[in-house]
Amino acid sequence: MFGPRKSIHTMSSQQEGHRLAKTLSWPHLIALGVGAIVGTGIYTLTGVGAERAGPAVILAFAIAGAVCACAALAYAEMATLIPAAGSAYTFSYTAMGEGIAWIVGWSLILEYSLACSTVAVGWSGYLVGWIQAAGVTLPQALLVGPHDGGIINLPAVLVALSVMGMLIAGTRESATLNIILVIIKLVALSVFVAFALPAFQADNLQPFMPYGFGSTEVMGEKRGVMAAAAIVFFAFYGFDAVATSAEEAKNPGRDLTIGIVGSMLVCTIIYMAVAVAAVGALPYTALANSPEPLALVLRSLQQPVAAHLIALAAVVALPSVILVMMYGQSRIFFVMARDGLLPRGLAKVSPRTGAPTLITLVTGVSVAAVAGFFRLDEIAELANAGTLVAFIAVGACLMILRRRFPELPRLFRCPAPYVVGTLAILGCIYLFISLPSSTITRFFLWNVIGLVIYFAYGRRHSDAREPVPVAGA
Ligand code: ALA
Repeated sequence: MFGPRKSIHTMSSQQEGHRLAKTLSWPHLIALGVGAIVGTGIYTLTGVGAERAGPAVILAFAIAGAVCACAALAYAEMATLIPAAGSAYTFSYTAMGEGIAWIVGWSLILEYSLACSTVAVGWSGYLVGWIQAAGVTLPQALLVGPHDGGIINLPAVLVALSVMGMLIAGTRESATLNIILVIIKLVALSVFVAFALPAFQADNLQPFMPYGFGSTEVMGEKRGVMAAAAIVFFAFYGFDAVATSAEEAKNPGRDLTIGIVGSMLVCTIIYMAVAVAAVGALPYTALANSPEPLALVLRSLQQPVAAHLIALAAVVALPSVILVMMYGQSRIFFVMARDGLLPRGLAKVSPRTGAPTLITLVTGVSVAAVAGFFRLDEIAELANAGTLVAFIAVGACLMILRRRFPELPRLFRCPAPYVVGTLAILGCIYLFISLPSSTITRFFLWNVIGLVIYFAYGRRHSDAREPVPVAGA
């Protein structure tokens, strides 16, 4: 019913010239994971989350983190069972068939590319705040998109295009640079907590849940803990980018387990600390919708130097998130093209750098265009919708493949797979329906476009089907 499935044994046996080089080991992967996870979600969306849930944004982080932890465990098992590029898309192809795999792949394209755009806009917020705090006036029309009275968010466009250039120059250099940026980002968040936590006032946490627990519409905007969880969920994903690079891992079993589970743990601990420090230091209404909430907290606490430093760290390090996400996106595109679902010419790998140049170019330009003209929270929510669908699929794949191939050796075994898989699926569904209805509509439209392409092109050119003579093909 859902089209052909891929054999689990053919995953790593791809044609020469269409295969990615094995260059990454676990320190690269953990850096890749943390590099993708810690970004605009904690640096910027903390403010949006506080606006939606009040101080209970702390709870929203905990809920989103718990759902992601279940998904991360499922991912870790799946990535070691099927260590081939493409993550959730490839897993779904094996477990559920081509039709579902297409929807998942198409959702992943949305996830990765819009996550890049979101982070580019978040980056721009810190850059502009930082420059303006130094007393420099900039032309507003070029700093924000039309929704905020500007013309184009030029800094966001430029950062997206620069990262694209780095990726085209080759994976190895990018991964090493990523490690340095990850360290900067983590040190900056530690500095934030060290300054903000001593200013903690219990009064700021009252009332804790001003909009209640569920996700309800208040004056056209979603409010409540679940509404906040549905957006701060953005802060937690990215570990799947590690799974996406499985084909490039030197020792997939060990490296991927450490990479995915380790980076998830590190990030969850840090987020809880940052969220408590932020809403404890300032009333949540002050954080709401600031383009640079962490810097704002520090400035309000009369710590201009620390504020300056955190903004600088965000400016220097957030591009690492774009780097990892754009890398993941180009790999998804790459694998879908290699499978014949998208034009195969896109899957050409540069003999010099080992990177898929054309795909990276297409991705980078699209990401820059979205970042230049759209609103941060709307882009983030749509990226979340794509991610949630991919996570639901991975939870399902985990359980289906455990049932169908219980005997296959698994280098990482998810504990209580049926409980974890079910929790991941239910948690993601709950987060998905907590998104604004406009986001859900956009997501379905995206998939309608996807299915048109699938039926018009992908289905007829897919490798997994018996060759069917097609007129004119
Ligand atoms: N988790 C990543 C971020 O927060 C996408 O920027």
